[in-house]
Amino acid sequence: MPNTKPKRQLDLEDLALHEGATVLLRRALAQLGSGEWLEVRGDSAELAVHISAWCRKEGHRLEFQQGVKGGYRIQAAAVVPSVFTSRLEVSEIAEPGWGLAPRGACIESGGPEFAFTLRRKRDVWARELGSIYKQGVAGQWSASRDIPWSQLPALAPELESAVGQIMTFLTENEFAALYVPARFIPRIHPHYREVVEVLALQIVDEARHAEAFTRRAETGGVGLGTTATSGQLSLQTLLEEPDFTTATFLLCVMGEGTFLTLLRFLGEYAPDPVTAALARLAHQDEARHVAFGTEHLRYVLEREPERRSSLTAAVERRSRVLASVSGLSPYVHDALVVFAGGGISPAQVRSGARRVAELHREMDHSRRERLRSLGFEPEVAFQMSGYHTKNFM
Ligand SMILES: [Fe+2]
Ligand SMILES: [Fe+2]
Repeated sequence: MPNTKPKRQLDLEDLALHEGATVLLRRALAQLGSGEWLEVRGDSAELAVHISAWCRKEGHRLEFQQGVKGGYRIQAAAVVPSVFTSRLEVSEIAEPGWGLAPRGACIESGGPEFAFTLRRKRDVWARELGSIYKQGVAGQWSASRDIPWSQLPALAPELESAVGQIMTFLTENEFAALYVPARFIPRIHPHYREVVEVLALQIVDEARHAEAFTRRAETGGVGLGTTATSGQLSLQTLLEEPDFTTATFLLCVMGEGTFLTLLRFLGEYAPDPVTAALARLAHQDEARHVAFGTEHLRYVLEREPERRSSLTAAVERRSRVLASVSGLSPYVHDALVVFAGGGISPAQVRSGARRVAELHREMDHSRRERLRSLGFEPEVAFQMSGYHTKNFM
């Protein structure tokens, strides 16, 4: 005879295990501590065979109640302790064994260890993640629905081909901006899901930008322009940066920050309403990407101020690698001049060239401002902005 009184009773009536009796058994057993007894009765056909097999599989001990037809006693197996993580408080370090569990869920012990390498809060975190994500979701636009494609006029061929060249350049950069966060997402521990969500949305934004810019070039009749080696080399150094914070700094603060100025410029001198709408909508998205990058860097630098010098070194290193690349590709430079001047008459070129020179000054100015806001000294910010790739991104 078992030596303790059953803690609970369960009457299965004629419910068989394959009909769902296990749901009731599990619920009843979950109320028991390890070693406590559940008294069960039931009269479904072959219950004795099925309940024995089930108890064996679940690790519970089963006894038949002597003299009671359809009566059983089940001793609850030792409970495998679960781990709780708080939903609201984000841990400084996330355990590999928490795996893909949502924060705040109860996590069964003994699960697999995942190889998420970015598992310290300060590796990935930023303030304002919730509001950046919310704005991102609300600001999603469609390249087919929200762009006035039917209002695209036939531009002079030289102007249209300048637009096509600029769209080609933008698309290369959009791809880089898509691949960089995509490389890091699988390394970020899901405990920091807000970061993953913001980056996932960023990737969707870049896919849409690439789609829309390519479509603009193709719809204008002249098509895409040339991808310069200098641009590819510059973007390759960005794609190969192995450290998340450094990559985020180079992409979202330095690169996309510079692109904010470029997109504003393209919107201002756009020769048609389609190009203007694209520049405006992409600018809105990029502003969020820059906000994430800036907030992440702020979070890291508040905790590790010494990282400023490694970021300075990263910008310098990139500039050394790109030393053979003298400046912005002539394809892009010339296209910007024609774009901003509105054509290729000497007077238009003069005014376009002046505007492009002004664009470079504005880019430099806003990069330095952004660096200053992250606590870089003015001389350092001046130097870093100067070292930043001439290809903008
Ligand atoms: Fe973009
Ligand atoms: Fe972006």
